[in-house]
Amino acid sequence: MADNEATSFDTLFGRMAVEQKLCTEEELKECKKELQARAAGSNPVTLERLMVEKQVLTPSQAARLKGSIRESRDVSTQIPGYRVLGKLGSGAMAVVYKAKQLSLDRTVAIKVLPKKFVQKSDYVERFYKEGRIAAKLNHNNIVQAIDVGEVGGLYYFVMEYVEGKTLYDDLSKGKIFSEKEALDIIIQLANALAHAHAQGLIHRDVKPKNIMINKEGIVKLADMGLAREASDIKAAKHEQGKAFGTPYYIAPEQIRGELDIDGRADIYALGATLYHMVTGRVPFDASSPSEVMRKHLKEPLVPPDHINTSLSAGISEVIEVMMAKNKEDRYKNMEELLIDLQAVRDGNPPVIARQRFNMEALEKLEDGVEVNHRDETQKVYNDALLAKYKVAVVALIALSAVLFLIVLFLAFQLKNKSESYDSMTYGQASFSSCPEIPSKPA
Ligand SMILES: Nc1ncnc2c1ncn2[C@@H]1O[C@H](COP(=O)(O)OP(=O)(O)OP(=O)(O)O)[C@@H](O)[C@H]1O
Ligand SMILES: [Mg+2]
Repeated sequence: MADNEATSFDTLFGRMAVEQKLCTEEELKECKKELQARAAGSNPVTLERLMVEKQVLTPSQAARLKGSIRESRDVSTQIPGYRVLGKLGSGAMAVVYKAKQLSLDRTVAIKVLPKKFVQKSDYVERFYKEGRIAAKLNHNNIVQAIDVGEVGGLYYFVMEYVEGKTLYDDLSKGKIFSEKEALDIIIQLANALAHAHAQGLIHRDVKPKNIMINKEGIVKLADMGLAREASDIKAAKHEQGKAFGTPYYIAPEQIRGELDIDGRADIYALGATLYHMVTGRVPFDASSPSEVMRKHLKEPLVPPDHINTSLSAGISEVIEVMMAKNKEDRYKNMEELLIDLQAVRDGNPPVIARQRFNMEALEKLEDGVEVNHRDETQKVYNDALLAKYKVAVVALIALSAVLFLIVLFLAFQLKNKSESYDSMTYGQASFSSCPEIPSKPA
């Protein structure tokens, strides 16, 4: 390496070590001081070696960092108009870099798709088509798509850079969200999806890893407009999740590979995400992705308020309607869902979910199936009926008591009357025996 090339690599290495939180600014400053001292002497060394020597980095951390810098450099020299600053993360399908958009001097995130995903021409077509639609979306809760392109066989997607964390970061630490906190996040996402659906764009991959929360606490839905293939799901079934993250949030109709996927698939995935947030558990868990998918298709959902008993009946009903296996039984659209989310958020019952539960109960009755009284509506109805019976019984007892008293009073009156009649009939004796009535003078 030439001297100045080595220096610029050291600078990048140091900056990325701090950015990736492998060391502190202070530790880096110390190392740089020593680096300069050694360069002046007879024992020059690279920053990477020095940081390992001083045990600021482990050898494997240093190797990983060096590898990702090389990778970033490869990408940065290839995508014109952008300078890659470092790697932000990677998922099953792509690597995401932090970069500077040179023309506008702003920080962006660039998602680069590996070649194996972009060899199929229909995929590339959809990648561009959906990228173009996504770039037209403009919503505060959607990660703004900026550009899509291809260079040297690499397909890239440029988007707004979100400084913050993903919802997955919180959930993987075991955080259980309060009902209010969860609803505040889900309402922002439902608004974002309502906007996308109105433009004809379905997300198809709503999940905690694609939900970011920035430093101001604003929720941002990522990967909107990133084309997914139905064959990804087939691949997941065969490759046990290697090609496709474990499908904890996917709608049954997507698992079945149906072609007419609509906004209700996003409602299901959002429901599964809300379920995870308020219970601390994914709705269906198993040791393999195919088993998780089987459960999405067949297994009844354990109501969230059975896991977290502090949840309101309302939020549980909303989640159950969101996650109905049959899309016809879900909310029709995001607008309908938002009515119920807002109602529960304000402490009121979810009107639309209640209607669904009542309809379901009616249908079951029509079918001659015994109705399960788990839902709160039925309980409220039963309680009201019981209260009415109680009032009727008390009124009946009171009425009987009054009747009894009247009968008693009448009997007493009758007895008195007959006694006075007796005394009038049978003459003086009774008068004279009565002290209040003076006896006639003889
Ligand atoms: N716009 C962005 N701004 C900042 N960081 C981002 C942005 N988009 C993605 N990231 C980061 O890059 C990581 C990788 O994202 P990517 O979409 O490739 O995979 P994923 O969504 O995490 O997982 P999967 O591959 O299972 O879908 C994310 O977890 C996130 O930390
Ligand atoms: Mg993602």
